[in-house]
Amino acid sequence: IKNIAVLTSGGDAPGMNACIRAVVRTAIFNNIGVYGAIQGYEGLINNNLKKLDSRSVSGIIHLGGTILKTARSLEFKTDEGMQKAYNNLKANEIDALVVIGGDGTFKGAKEFSEKFGIKVIGIPGTIDNDLYGTDFTIGYDTALNTTIEAIDKIRDTADSHDRLFFIEVMGRDSGCIALRSAICTGAEAVLLPERDTTIEELVQELVAGSAAKKNSRIVIVAEGNKLGSAYEVSKMVKYRVQNYDPKVTVLGHLQRGGSPSAFDRILAGRLGFSAVNELLKGSTNCMVGLSGNNIIVTQLNEALTQHTFKLENDLMEMKEILSI
Ligand code: F6P
Repeated sequence: IKNIAVLTSGGDAPGMNACIRAVVRTAIFNNIGVYGAIQGYEGLINNNLKKLDSRSVSGIIHLGGTILKTARSLEFKTDEGMQKAYNNLKANEIDALVVIGGDGTFKGAKEFSEKFGIKVIGIPGTIDNDLYGTDFTIGYDTALNTTIEAIDKIRDTADSHDRLFFIEVMGRDSGCIALRSAICTGAEAVLLPERDTTIEELVQELVAGSAAKKNSRIVIVAEGNKLGSAYEVSKMVKYRVQNYDPKVTVLGHLQRGGSPSAFDRILAGRLGFSAVNELLKGSTNCMVGLSGNNIIVTQLNEALTQHTFKLENDLMEMKEILSI
């Protein structure tokens, strides 16, 4: 391998910079040239490729976001877009790609690699923690901690006013952030994409809380749950739970920002390092991930077709009992 390109694609996640740093330095250590594609696949299509050296990635390990910028490229989904990307890679003598992102990123990488024979390695980076082939994705731990910090602050004011808060959290179709933030903040109820809860069940839970003389209530609403947004759920519940003044907070993109946690920095370093080592071994069309504190390699084909996240029943049951 003469040169590789590294890119970040899809939603940014804290720890992506630490991962870019690991990829760049591991490649340089192994005498491989590195280009950073700016704005994900768009950078490949537009030949927006920046040669990186060890110093290009100095002072970034603690930064949120991604220095390479990111995008959800529509053009890369077309044959013409992929052809342009391939031509630019060839012109720059780039033989392999390291892509950091979520399942949309991996889908593009897999198709590109199969069509053009370019070697690709995926690194899971998304706050959603919704990828098969890894226990954790880069950015999830930081996002969860950010979410908890925000909910704790809302609890202070909720307690002071005896209020009921509906707090909407991110995660797309995954309830990882929602369930764990609910456990960590002692929320009274949680609405998850993976579980059907009716409005009646939610009202019953809240009414039981009234009977138990709780003075505040926090309901965590995962954005992908089936009942609707936090605003919609709040409206449906409003007149059915007495003595509480319902309020809504949508945490939104603040969950994606901030300095990565120690866990995310180490995960990012390990995965970036392993991705380049996999390329050196000749691997392609696969992703690196963490399983029980070991680095594992999963074929993209498998990663993209297997079920990603199942709710751990013990966590669900524990949450119910600990919030009585
Ligand atoms: O995938 C990360 C994520 O933050 C999801 O949790 C959320 O649904 C989505 O991205 C939001 O996307 P955008 O930043 O494009 O609005």
